[in-house]
Amino acid sequence: ERPDALPRDLEGRRVVVSAGGTREPLDPVRFLGNRSSGKQGYALARVAAQRGADVLLISGYTSDLSAPASVRVETVRTAEDMRTAVTAAAVGADAVIMAAAVADFRPTTLATSKIKKGADEPDTIPLTRNADILAGLVAARDAGDLAADAAIVGFAAETGDQHGDVLTHARAKLARKKCDLLVVNAVGEGKAFEMDDNDGWILSADGTELALEHGSKALMSSRVIDALVPLLRVRQP
Ligand code: CTP
Ligand code: CA
Repeated sequence: ERPDALPRDLEGRRVVVSAGGTREPLDPVRFLGNRSSGKQGYALARVAAQRGADVLLISGYTSDLSAPASVRVETVRTAEDMRTAVTAAAVGADAVIMAAAVADFRPTTLATSKIKKGADEPDTIPLTRNADILAGLVAARDAGDLAADAAIVGFAAETGDQHGDVLTHARAKLARKKCDLLVVNAVGEGKAFEMDDNDGWILSADGTELALEHGSKALMSSRVIDALVPLLRVRQP
């Protein structure tokens, strides 16, 4: 879609988007990370700005993406950094979209000097669970720390397994996270990661399920924002 053909339906709105992957350091030269390219979050930030929003993009590590036009970018390293940045930015936002791949765990200790391999078998790495930023936003809204009508959007990359298919996992995740929308990508062999296209669904807290046609991340972003706009409060003229 041409930017000048997009509706200006986010005019005057403040939108926070997180994108990319976090890295959890082990020692000065090593980290636990993930394969997020950041492309989906950057595309969302770009489209939200093209539709008139004041966008803050809170970015972890990406595949060398540049800032979309008219979008402010704040970079973060770890999940904890991202939690601090997103939590602060969410105050006063109309919508928060968590497209980032946030590390679930971090190494429990950070070695101050490089870990040497020594002669023996390696040690196991103790891990500590990171706070769930998305769940924290929903809890903050419930507690009145965020606007009651702030919209909160999560993303989920899912594979099927012996416990169920992609949609079964995604529905359970929406019920657990209690966000307003959950954007679901089916991942696995050759799907979504580091590709320009992906397939999925938008699940709404009201039970609506919208299948997303195969298309670019820009198109997918437009569909996500189409689903988000009706959730925003009616603005006073
Ligand atoms: N998320 C978050 N904070 C975390 C982990 C995840 O805010 N510590 C957000 C992601 O940005 C995403 C959503 O939660 O919007 C779902 O992430 P996902 O990893 O799919 O969910 P998890 O609850 O971590 O479940 P899983 O065990 O499948 O990884
Ligand atoms: Ca996770």
